[in-house]
Amino acid sequence: MTAAKKLCVIGWPVEHSKSPLLHNTMLGVLGLDYEYLCQPVPPDGLEDFLAAALAGGYVGFNATMPFKTQLAHRVDVLDPLARKLEAVNTVCIQNGKLYGYNTDCPGFIAALRGAGFDPSGKKAVLLGAGGAARAVAVGLCEAGVKSLTVCNRTPEKGAALAALYPDIMSTSPLMGPQLLDTLSEADLLVNGTSVGMAGQGEWPDLDFLAALPRDALAVDLIYHPDRTQLLARAQALGHPTMNGLPLLLHQAILALEHFTGAAIPPEAVLPALERALQVS
Ligand code: ATR
Repeated sequence: MTAAKKLCVIGWPVEHSKSPLLHNTMLGVLGLDYEYLCQPVPPDGLEDFLAAALAGGYVGFNATMPFKTQLAHRVDVLDPLARKLEAVNTVCIQNGKLYGYNTDCPGFIAALRGAGFDPSGKKAVLLGAGGAARAVAVGLCEAGVKSLTVCNRTPEKGAALAALYPDIMSTSPLMGPQLLDTLSEADLLVNGTSVGMAGQGEWPDLDFLAALPRDALAVDLIYHPDRTQLLARAQALGHPTMNGLPLLLHQAILALEHFTGAAIPPEAVLPALERALQVS
């Protein structure tokens, strides 16, 4: 009997990662002979890890903080989306070469479509311009949104993100009359900041949500808590809402497609993934 092929997630810290649970659940459902491990790698330990991985330790891995940007400059072959984002979260090892991808970006779009929202031709507002927000912005622009307004606490970071797609993206202050005007025309609002995450502080004021048209979809990339105050207020106002869990699940499905080369229909694994998260 041949040993199962090995996959893992690297990061520092990484023990909190849901990736081993998600991937091992999918591998079990699909009957694929891989095992997926949790591999702590200290910030200065990437080269040692890669040497061991290339020597036959792993056939692929996911990466979380602090390695996503570093890997974008280190892999042998970089997917165009990952290049645009300057962030790699999925690496496949084939014939001694590292192939880097980003599945957060298409994962977000798959999550939106799974919720019945087609971003093509829509007007969107994005709060934040950090790593998570960047993946959302690039995903939405690639999926054909009509406009995307980036609202970030630090305006220079918002402007740098908007410059990636200058014909589609513009910027607005994070709060104030310009935000309200932009929201009043939006089909989609996404919170990509860490505000509202457990232990990270809350929005001082959520009254800006009243400017959003009632049928606009409100998304929070946060999934801990599973219903942020922003989503609770949006629901109370009658908006359809989505938290960050569908993105977490879809990015994992797309990563496993890269690792195994198998097409994985989301409906084949989503129920098992949702059950696994509930009991974890
Ligand atoms: P991640 O990788 O999770 O996206 P990040 O790259 O550190 O994390 O980005 C965090 C985002 O949350 C940034 O857009 C940050 O705004 P700044 O660019 O101004 O730092 C935003 N953020 C964090 N705390 C915030 C707060 N209290 N109010 C508004 N925005 C906040």
